[in-house]
Amino acid sequence: MRIVLVGPPGAGKGTQAAFLARNLSIPHISTGDLFRANISQQTELGKLAKSYMDAGNLVPDEVTIAMAKDRMEQPDAENGFLLDGFPRNVSQAEALDELLETENMQLDAVLDLEVPEDEVVKRIAGRRICRNDSSHVFHVTYKQPAKDGVCDVCGGELYQRNDDSEETVRTRLEVYHTQTEPIIDYYKAQGLVVTISALGKVEDVTARAMEALKRGE
Ligand code: AP5
Ligand code: ZN
Repeated sequence: MRIVLVGPPGAGKGTQAAFLARNLSIPHISTGDLFRANISQQTELGKLAKSYMDAGNLVPDEVTIAMAKDRMEQPDAENGFLLDGFPRNVSQAEALDELLETENMQLDAVLDLEVPEDEVVKRIAGRRICRNDSSHVFHVTYKQPAKDGVCDVCGGELYQRNDDSEETVRTRLEVYHTQTEPIIDYYKAQGLVVTISALGKVEDVTARAMEALKRGE
């Protein structure tokens, strides 16, 4: 399956993607995680992306599309993938369509996670992620690690993301509404959108998502 996950910052895309990708046996491709890995390895791409990410703005399309394309062309993505955080505006969605068309591939679904803004703010405020791998995600109340400040998966140190400050979150939400939400209409026109509520327990949301994807097939 080829799936795109959309939803506001803090909706739980990364959290759900980990379970869905495992259930569906497809790789989880998160452009946010790819950028954060580049930042921690201090690559040129990481240096460029950091200033945009810290301000809550989108990294320029040209580098983002090239990075996503490169990842989607890896052998493990041949039979499907779950995209998390990409595409994030209409021009990225058009670039993805072009790429899929040249490969003679199609998207199966766009899963839209709906969460009210006050819940998103709570989820982001308490989020802690792992220094070794930003896909290891915890929450100070909703998903506590067994040992305070230590990642359950790899023992790495947990910290708060730079872009999770209150001011940056406000910018990220605005960017989501103005630049990312329009892709929902773009994909609705292709009949691909399935919307679910992302409220409630993580496992209940995963079950809802799996059900919706089955129905959408
Ligand atoms: P990215 O990393 O994609 O951030 P985002 O879209 O803002 O999403 P988040 O990672 O904040 O949230 P999430 O929905 O994954 O929630 P999570 O599962 O962590 O992008 C960051 C930046 O990178 C962008 O601002 C941009 O600069 C750049 N970028 C990335 N892609 C780009 C692109 N395509 N183009 C240009 N720039 C790009 O959950 C949040 C918290 O809630 C966690 O603590 C979790 O434990 C908790 N939680 C999850 N589910 C539940 C639940 N059901 N109940 C209670 N708590 C829950
Ligand atoms: Zn870890």
